[in-house]
Amino acid sequence: MKENTNGDNPMGSHGLYPNPQELIRQDEINFEILKKLAGKSIVSVDQFEKEMVLEICKFAAFLEVTDIASHHPLDGKIIITAFFEASTRTRLSFESAVLRLDGKIISIPMGKTTGAAKGESLSDMGEMFNAYGDLIVMRHTNTSSVEEIMENLRLPLINAGNGSGEHPTQALADWFAILKWKPRLKENIVKEKDQINLGILGTPGSMRAVNSFLRMSLLFKTGIRKILIVSEMADPLGPELTELLKSSNIPFQMTNDINEILSDLDVIYMNSITFLGDSYKSLDSRFKLNAQSNLKEDAVVLHPLARLDELDPDLDETNHNLYFTQAHGAVFIRQAVLISLLNRLDRLPKHVAK
Ligand code: CP
Repeated sequence: MKENTNGDNPMGSHGLYPNPQELIRQDEINFEILKKLAGKSIVSVDQFEKEMVLEICKFAAFLEVTDIASHHPLDGKIIITAFFEASTRTRLSFESAVLRLDGKIISIPMGKTTGAAKGESLSDMGEMFNAYGDLIVMRHTNTSSVEEIMENLRLPLINAGNGSGEHPTQALADWFAILKWKPRLKENIVKEKDQINLGILGTPGSMRAVNSFLRMSLLFKTGIRKILIVSEMADPLGPELTELLKSSNIPFQMTNDINEILSDLDVIYMNSITFLGDSYKSLDSRFKLNAQSNLKEDAVVLHPLARLDELDPDLDETNHNLYFTQAHGAVFIRQAVLISLLNRLDRLPKHVAK
């Protein structure tokens, strides 16, 4: 067992650090559910049911509090991280996750160092990747990139962000942080007083992390009293997300006035940077939070990062800051999916994976 699991932040950084043990206390991990991921790709949140998200998050909590390195779960496996768009957290947290499990990495930190510079297609690159590794983690500026590489790819693929499309393992990291903060959201909640008001400062229809977060949030609909979306766009959802929200039966409201709703929110998810067309754009960065904002005393803030000035660093030292826990926990979420996709659950300590 690792030390520092009593609520102190083992990363030594600021903010709220909920104890991961609370997520698995008296709730065994169901490895039969995780085994269903063997050999699969992760391209969209839509492929998940709530029970799978819960088991991945519980497994990540286990990995966060357990010294797993001595079991070498990814020994002999080669993971290709192919990033055709900038990243701090996603590429490095995947690579850290792999190396801490004794796997090996081939990394493309910038797509222009590949044959893409000569006009090589993603489908041709996919054919090559089949011979070089066991799993590929890809980020790309184009929403269609996942489809293109999968034309010839026969390895499992993890979509690490496709343009303004999706970022499914980010959504897993987001909900891992929320579930550590409020483990009761695992349950089917029946009392309104136990539900949360969820605020989204951003444009789900144009931002991949917000899109994936919203889709995953709908799996936890019994825990959500209402969803409030604060965006500068007239239609921040688009037709598909609007239909999904309507069919979830969660009451939702859209506004462009943050002050109207801020003091009512329990969880606030914010983001402002998105890759749209051929460049990064900043949407919704006029909706700012800082330590003086009119937040509920126990409200928590999530942000996939990188941030601009919409999220003031003076919030970092407060207990509203769940975004550092969210970012740090991504390593364990990524370990959980890598071990499952690569069918290495049998490498866990015998008393755990029965
Ligand atoms: N959250 C996230 O996707 O961050 P990066 O862009 O740094 O990978």
